[in-house]
Amino acid sequence: MRELHESWRHHGDHVALVPTMGNLHAGHLSLVDLARQHAERVVVTVFVNPTQFGEDEDFDDYPRTLKRDTQRLKKLEADVLFTPDVATVYPFGIDKATVVSVPGLTRNFCGASRPGHFDGVTTVVARLFALVQPDVAVFGQKDYQQQLVIRHMTADLSLPIRVITAPTMREADGLAMSSRNQYLSESERAIAPQLHASLEKICKELQNGKRDFDQLENDAWAGLEAAGFVPDYVAIRRAENLEPPDRDCDEIVVLAAAHLGKARLIDNIVITI
Ligand code: PAJ
Repeated sequence: MRELHESWRHHGDHVALVPTMGNLHAGHLSLVDLARQHAERVVVTVFVNPTQFGEDEDFDDYPRTLKRDTQRLKKLEADVLFTPDVATVYPFGIDKATVVSVPGLTRNFCGASRPGHFDGVTTVVARLFALVQPDVAVFGQKDYQQQLVIRHMTADLSLPIRVITAPTMREADGLAMSSRNQYLSESERAIAPQLHASLEKICKELQNGKRDFDQLENDAWAGLEAAGFVPDYVAIRRAENLEPPDRDCDEIVVLAAAHLGKARLIDNIVITI
């Protein structure tokens, strides 16, 4: 990776990084397309990062489909598929690994329901940044809190990397694409788009001038429960920092996570009100 990087640099090429955990779908592939627009060289990484999974989470079951991922990437203009092993990413072992941690931003939402998750994400992304040394790195808006946390880490550590956020790719019925959608049964899959629909409903109310944020959140929560979800959070927040919004705040993110059967689904919409 380093040698390639050297030779690219020598030619004056810029490098864009798209970190993934594999099982690539159209959402991931859209990140590769966007990366291509920002750099002459695109590196995609596939690494199922053990440190970002909780003990009772799906690390062992996480779909690993490297052969298919490779075929999919060949059709796109990615230059390198980098698949480091655990020893490359964590040379001193996981227990002795230097941890990168972003406080504050990781306290709520997915950080609250998945303790340690974001430490795992920032720890691995910092390592991927160091291994690949990109000029640009692309993350999906689907994981809204994740891209904010990575932006914070990058700015806070003065890393010379431009973080770009790519729009969420959805199925025709609105469900955000995710590797975890495969965990849904047929009947759960039919219900799943209601997560996005409930966020859209909140956005519509906000755009109609409604400002009772608690009420909007509670109504959406009740709607999700009635549909068969076990909601984790539904929140209307300032898009820039996930703080509670003022009534006259303009950039808002409406974000939610909910369990449906074995799957934990997340989604969000950003709007200007
Ligand atoms: P993973 O879930 O594989 O996602 C890789 C990237 O694809 C992330 O930036 C994610 O936000 C983006 N992505 C996923 N679904 C998307 C969709 N429907 N539309 C647009 N982008 C989408 O997120 C991770 O892996 C890991 O935490 C990682 C950053 C690689 C660190 O291990």
